[in-house]
Amino acid sequence: MNSLVEKLKNTRDLSDIELKTLIESDEYDEELRQAADAVRRERYGDAVFLRGLIEISSYCKNNCLYCGLRAGNLHAERYRLSREEILSCCEEGYALGYRTFVLQGGEDPYFTDERICEIVAEIRMRYPDCAITLSLGEKSRESYERYYKAGANRYLLRHETADPAHYARLHPENMSCENRKRCLYDLKEIGYQVGSGFMVGSPYQTTENLIADLRFLQELQPDMIGIGPYITQKDTPFCDMKSGTAELTLRMLSILRLMFPYALLPSTTALGTIHPMGREMGLRAGGNVVMPNLSPVSVRKKYAIYDDKICTGEESAQCRGCLERRIESAGYRAVTDRGDVRRVRK
Ligand code: SAM
Ligand code: SF4
Ligand code: FES
Repeated sequence: MNSLVEKLKNTRDLSDIELKTLIESDEYDEELRQAADAVRRERYGDAVFLRGLIEISSYCKNNCLYCGLRAGNLHAERYRLSREEILSCCEEGYALGYRTFVLQGGEDPYFTDERICEIVAEIRMRYPDCAITLSLGEKSRESYERYYKAGANRYLLRHETADPAHYARLHPENMSCENRKRCLYDLKEIGYQVGSGFMVGSPYQTTENLIADLRFLQELQPDMIGIGPYITQKDTPFCDMKSGTAELTLRMLSILRLMFPYALLPSTTALGTIHPMGREMGLRAGGNVVMPNLSPVSVRKKYAIYDDKICTGEESAQCRGCLERRIESAGYRAVTDRGDVRRVRK
């Protein structure tokens, strides 16, 4: 095994120059993958955790330049799920064996704190054995506290890029890297299991930006780290920009597994979108979570954050079966428990 990879595996860290070498070369890919798989198996065995993803709203008041849900996208078809629709997704998900529900959406002012708390409390009451994850963007500390008290346990908020100058090129002026990071620290202090992460190959991203992302994650120590390739969306200002690659995403996944052996690392839908075997490859590179879509099929195409998103025509049960086969074909096993983080070895 190559010594750089071995060093990363043993020390869980490298200098910036060493990281740059690993990130910019394809020479270490197979060693990286094997080392990452060994570390993942040591900590989590062959388990792959399933999270049922419910995309509750495609309305968003923000204008992130890369995202198809941005407020300025006048071509976007908008929808929001009712309380009853969300609860019936949970019912279907529970029957399919999911023990984590992820409620994700644009920053939709319709979903006031009262409405969110009411839905969270109802899910908490009906499914006391399930984890409730929210991914609803940047809120005040008070709002996060209210959701937590209502019964939410986890929150996903990718930092997107840890470099303020790069952040400013991806977002309008009213959004800041600083506030995003503030949100993540607030969430952690409140007691949430926190997920952060970034897009790989986002416009203007440099290797130095990726290293800054790793350094920020070392500081934050999140429970989950979600990364996926940036994928171009035709109705955004970045419509002419290139998408990220599966190759670099897989390399970053393996590096993350070696730096954060304990972490929950999803093999994302975006990875499955840019490569037909992307999710299987993501699992083999160190990923141990998949997030199948539980949203009603009637709305799925409208949650068009990027082009050509997979799983938009399939029923939830079809995705469940399909994913189980894919997980097995990659050499792993889908498990239906809550899949909490393992900070120490079992
Ligand atoms: N609005 C919430 C937020 O921004 O955190 C949650 C929903 S947002 C659609 C979820 C994630 O989608 C973002 O964190 C971003 O990383 C990812 N995303 C948005 N546009 C994307 C694109 N064009 N390609 C890949 N991922 C994208
Ligand atoms: Fe809205 Fe999230 Fe898309 Fe930004 S990434 S436009 S906050 S849905
Ligand atoms: Fe959705 Fe394969 S996972 S169809």
